[in-house]
Amino acid sequence: MLKLGVNIDHVATLRELRGTPYPDVLAAARVCRDAGAHGVTVHLREDRRHIRDADVRVLRAEPGLRLNLEMAIAPDVLAVALETCPDEACLVPERRQERTTEGGLDVLANEAAVGTWVRRLSDGGVRVSLFIEPDPRQVEAAARVGAPCIELHTGTLCTSTGAAAERELERLVSAARQAARLGLQVNAGHGINRGNLAAVLEIPHLDTLNIGHSIVCEAVFIGLDGAVRAMLTAMQAYRGGRP
Ligand code: PXP
Repeated sequence: MLKLGVNIDHVATLRELRGTPYPDVLAAARVCRDAGAHGVTVHLREDRRHIRDADVRVLRAEPGLRLNLEMAIAPDVLAVALETCPDEACLVPERRQERTTEGGLDVLANEAAVGTWVRRLSDGGVRVSLFIEPDPRQVEAAARVGAPCIELHTGTLCTSTGAAAERELERLVSAARQAARLGLQVNAGHGINRGNLAAVLEIPHLDTLNIGHSIVCEAVFIGLDGAVRAMLTAMQAYRGGRP
């Protein structure tokens, strides 16, 4: 079964907008878990614009909650990761000015540094994933640095139409096949909503989809429990992607 990781950063965004103690990030994580999500994801950004260190600690202490920590290669964030030891950590690129993660991690150009971080996190008991573009050189580099898992960036696919969408989908399909041949777990995420999900479900070898913004947006209308369940129901259409 295709798994769903719910990114709950934007629950914290609402809290930080007003500096209120609500909405409660842990309560949101519990709703996602109880609605059937495989786990939750939070991105501890260097500027702490939504998720804070304390959120990671509180989520980690929650029994039965699978936690995926998205993080840039930043020493203070690594310290939190090694202290809290989430189930997974997904290394992402980060720029202060961006509204959301804009591209994949350039593993190829930063192989030594990424390799060191993969080792440090793995030695600390954290399963590491690398968020990359569907580029064969990046997939190869991810395998070379010893990451057990990649997350393919679906942002371009999710915002494209027509021939451009088909081209991007072919890149994703081929990257997923290559990763599977190399023994990597394949996750995917960014920009996914129920309207563009059908295209994402064409990607083979998918283990987990990480979805945030569209679920939190839909929750405004139907509640978080309903939004998670609706996404899980839609994901049941996964038949293993293109043969
Ligand atoms: N995966 C990664 C690596 C991300 O950086 C993000 C955005 O934080 C997501 C998934 C979720 O993307 P979205 O909020 O567009 O669903």
